[in-house]
Amino acid sequence: MKGVRAAVIPAAGLGTRFLPATKAMPKEMLPVVDKPAIQFVVEEAVAAGLDDVLFITSRGKRALEDHFDRNTELEVALQEKNDSDRLALTQESTDLARIHYVRQGQALGLGHAILMAENHVGDQPFAVLLGDDLIDERDPILPRMIEVREKFGGSVICLMQVPQEDISLYGCAAVAPTDNDDVLEVTDLIEKPAVADAPSNYAIIGRYLLDPAVFEVLHRTKPGRGGEIQLTDALLELSKMSPETGGGVRGVVFTGRRYDTGDKLSYLKAVIRLATEREDIGPELRTWLAEQDFSG
Ligand code: G1P
Repeated sequence: MKGVRAAVIPAAGLGTRFLPATKAMPKEMLPVVDKPAIQFVVEEAVAAGLDDVLFITSRGKRALEDHFDRNTELEVALQEKNDSDRLALTQESTDLARIHYVRQGQALGLGHAILMAENHVGDQPFAVLLGDDLIDERDPILPRMIEVREKFGGSVICLMQVPQEDISLYGCAAVAPTDNDDVLEVTDLIEKPAVADAPSNYAIIGRYLLDPAVFEVLHRTKPGRGGEIQLTDALLELSKMSPETGGGVRGVVFTGRRYDTGDKLSYLKAVIRLATEREDIGPELRTWLAEQDFSG
């Protein structure tokens, strides 16, 4: 069984939910306190041993590329000031991983974005990390997903139970138990079902471990929900294929801390939650929050 080295991070979206902030700045660069959200995602991949990172980008993502590149002018200025702490913060994102970029010329959906990774990834299994989902570093899930792939082969998705009324925001899986409590056999998948049509409250969270057979499937996946080529539809097809051809999909159940940065309210909650836990500003922020009267 081949190991997993590559992480694919789709970052081609327009980020319209955060306009006007995202008019001239990629949404992936929105800070969670003082670090761009996307850096947490790259750090998570690297912590799981995935040191080959491929971003799928689009027009207007230059700030993201600059963030993971060196900024020699800034480095020299900080060196001259002997400010080693800030110098380290500047270099942190540069030294993380081998980072590559490929563009998705047209916004044809998540499945289409993943297809852009085909040449880079080749015939290796690979991870996909969606930037809107932040997984707390204290509750890593990728290592468990890699173990499950090693045991069963095929592809592995990350599932989380959500309140039934929220299921229409996610891809939803019908599942059957396996011998492992935290691993489920995926028997059906529907992208963003109406609440009444959802076969379960297991939502797909933005972490995937994909067999390279997904590329062949994506090439023939027709546009689905919203007229977009959906990764969920390709996974459904993979779930029906035999293990000999790279088929089979299991879900690992995630019960840890996850923060959604995909819409304004969730993003603000994520920032506040993580800020309160910081050693530098956390104690004062918590005191301040407790003192506030939010009644208007
Ligand atoms: C995507 C996937 C969806 C998944 C979600 C997780 O949707 O299509 O199946 O549940 O990510 O965050 P998006 O949120 O990009 O619309």
